[in-house]
Formats: sequence, C-alpha cells, structure tokens
Amino acid sequence: MHAVGIVAAAGSGLRLGADRPKALVPLGGRPLVAWAVATLLDGGVDEVVVAVPAEERDAFAAALPAGSRLVDGGATRTASVRAALAAVDPAATAVLVHDAARPLTPPDVVARVLAALAAGAPAVVPVLPVVDTTVVVDDAGVVAAAPDRATLRRVQTPQGFDRATLAAAYDRLPAGAELTDDAAVVRAAGVPVGTVAGDERCAKVTVAHDLALAELQVAR
Ligand code: C5P
Repeated sequence: MHAVGIVAAAGSGLRLGADRPKALVPLGGRPLVAWAVATLLDGGVDEVVVAVPAEERDAFAAALPAGSRLVDGGATRTASVRAALAAVDPAATAVLVHDAARPLTPPDVVARVLAALAAGAPAVVPVLPVVDTTVVVDDAGVVAAAPDRATLRRVQTPQGFDRATLAAAYDRLPAGAELTDDAAVVRAAGVPVGTVAGDERCAKVTVAHDLALAELQVAR
C-alpha cells in the first residue's frame, strides 16, 4: 500500500482571532500544520500534499519538512481537498485526509485508519461516542427529534480512502458543492464508510479556548 496524506490547511483562522492563517498559528512553538504533517508521517503515511492559502505558500514551505508538496487551496474545505487530490500520484493506493486544525492527533489513529484500508475497507473514519443527549431542532429552535444516543458518533480526521474511490467520488461531486468532510463525499457516491476508534486528542482547534487547551496538553 502506498498512502498519501492530504492536509487541509487553507482555512483563514477567523474564529480563532489569529493574525495569520490558522494552520500557521504556533502550538508549543510549532505551527499547527507541522504537527498535523508529523502525525501522518509518524503514523505510516508515505508522503504528504498540503493545501495552503495561495498567498502564503512561502510561509508554509518554511514551516514544513522538505519533501512536503504544497498546492493552492480553495474557498472552501471541499475545494481545498479537491485541489490536493488532483495533485496525488495516481499510482498511490490510499489517501488519508486530515485537518491541520487537529494538531495533537496521535499517530496510533493514523495507523488504525491505514490498517482498516489494508484490510480492504474502501473508506474509514475515526469516531468517538456521543456523551451528551443530542437533538435535532426546527427553525424556531424547538426540539424536533432526539435520536438514540447509542447510535450517534462524533467523526474526526484523518479519514482514509481507497485513492481511486475518493477520486471518483470527487469527480461526481458538482463543482461548488460544499460538504463538511470527505466521508460525506464518498457516501454521496454510495460508498459504505467504516469506522475505527478515534481519540479525544484529535480535537479540533477552532476557537481560542481550544488552542489554550491544546497548549496545556503540550506543556504536560
Ligand atoms: O474551518 P474548519 O476548522 O472546519 O476547517 C477544517 C480544516 O479545513 C482546517 O484545517 C482548515 O485549514 C481547512 N480548510 C481548508 N480550506 C478552506 C477552509 C478550511 O483547507 N477553504
């Protein structure tokens, strides 16, 4: 299996209130994107392609290990992953798509995703149980449904795919479509998505509080 990691790192960091793209914000002195790339390589991915804001290429190149391939991201996460996927060598058999915004993801999670792909899964995502009762609300904010919590999972990254399956699913996706993750793209193409155990440390850094928590973890 030849596995390529895609890191979606072209977001703005608006909600973090940062003075630079979120993926360049330092955690323990190292940019978030560098943590994400290291996790993928440590977990067994062979090479990485990183989608970055076009105007920040030089800063990202300086932040990443030699050999990292950079591509210009798009206006949405879906567009950024689509651009990175187009740069993946067609000879690769597996693709893992990871958020730069999940810097403390343990390499074990990457290894579990790779193992599921090696065992024949066309698509696999790391998940965790939902501990709060979770409801659906209508436009007025009134609870419309309360799905059985035991059936719900929180979905994380890296998400793993057979490369050809993911490429075909993106080809079918209408231009401009915006989905929140890549499993949704393959599910829209009718591909079953398996699960492996995720990890609380895959938590996403979105707002300043998340970054403060991550700093505490790094300092321990
Ligand atoms: O905004 P959010 O935190 O959901 O973004 C998830 C990941 O997608 C982040 O790592 C971000 O850099 C990336 N992203 C991207 N291109 C965009 C928007 C977000 O690569 N246009």
